[in-house]
Amino acid sequence: VERLRAGGARVELLTFAAGEASKNRATWGALTDRMLAAHCGRDTAVVAVGGGVTGDLAGFVAATYHRGIPVVQVPTSLVAMVDAAIGGTTGIDTTVGKNLVGAFHQPRLVVCDPAVLATLPVPALAGGAAEMLKHGAIEDAAYFEAVTAAAAGILAADVRALEPLVARSVEIKAAVVSTDERESGRRAVLNFGHTVGHAVEAASGWTVPHGAAVAAGMVVEATLGETLGITATGTAARLARSVARFDLPAWIPDGLAAEALLDGMRTDKKARARRVRFSAIGGIGRAHRGSDGAWTVAVDPERMRATLESSRRGQPVV
Ligand SMILES: NC(=O)c1ccc[n+]([C@@H]2O[C@H](COP(=O)([O-])OP(=O)(O)OC[C@H]3O[C@@H](n4cnc5c(N)ncnc54)[C@H](O)[C@@H]3O)[C@@H](O)[C@H]2O)c1
Ligand SMILES: [Zn+2]
Repeated sequence: VERLRAGGARVELLTFAAGEASKNRATWGALTDRMLAAHCGRDTAVVAVGGGVTGDLAGFVAATYHRGIPVVQVPTSLVAMVDAAIGGTTGIDTTVGKNLVGAFHQPRLVVCDPAVLATLPVPALAGGAAEMLKHGAIEDAAYFEAVTAAAAGILAADVRALEPLVARSVEIKAAVVSTDERESGRRAVLNFGHTVGHAVEAASGWTVPHGAAVAAGMVVEATLGETLGITATGTAARLARSVARFDLPAWIPDGLAAEALLDGMRTDKKARARRVRFSAIGGIGRAHRGSDGAWTVAVDPERMRATLESSRRGQPVV
């Protein structure tokens, strides 16, 4: 704020309570009301400084205020740097579910400074690492190994370790979304680990954090791919070893029934005619594309159920 003011800009600092619970219509309404009260015109820009909640919410404020004003994303969590701030999806949660109301609104600029991660709790750093491993798994095997090898540095928020890795993740996500800005095709590869991951989050009543759910989801979906003959043998085991370096689970967390997980998957946005679909990889570094050109694979519920049952803690990963 001081620097922008020193540069001659008129700046209003708007804050809200941290946490997912703030990512709703009420906060969107309060923020836009405060902007109207401050007489912000169409020549205003929103600068979103914070984690993914701030980025999604402030991005949606920018997308809708006076029918759209520019937004600059300044992500301060690892998840926001490598994922939420890139790609232009903005939005809020409703009581029915997460991210159900929103808009595509590309940022004019994204500023990532890994130095701010020094204050981020370790589980949040691990959550960001899950998405970084995903970027490697779908696009770049050498990057996947680099993230795995840098686990200690990432969890210690070491800027020198983080800087090149954050840059590569941003590059991968930006490359995928720029070929498919509106999630109609190739962008689905970013959903690797997320069909099972979202079901785990929902079935746990949102007590399992997103990164942990995605870590488990990547291992389970690779296992599924191996049983379908799509994914190279040994891929699930490789993923399991990598997520373990970040203290992330390589199994379905205890107490989640397969039936509840399957129910969650049927309402996933990739489901078609209630048939569960997931984004597979051919092996580490290679997103899978079917012979029909599709970036997602349909899976029979019985096979999904069997894979979920075999992916419990203590059972060997195939
Ligand atoms: N639009 C997208 O493509 C996209 C992608 C991934 C996630 N998301 C969204 O992002 C959200 C998750 O993001 P998140 O994990 O950043 O959660 P978050 O924004 O809630 O941040 C997590 C916590 O960390 C705090 N925090 C942020 N930066 C910090 C720092 N440098 N030091 C100390 N504390 C800090 C926040 O105040 C918050 O309490 C979800 O709402 C999710 O839906 C969106
Ligand atoms: Zn994710």
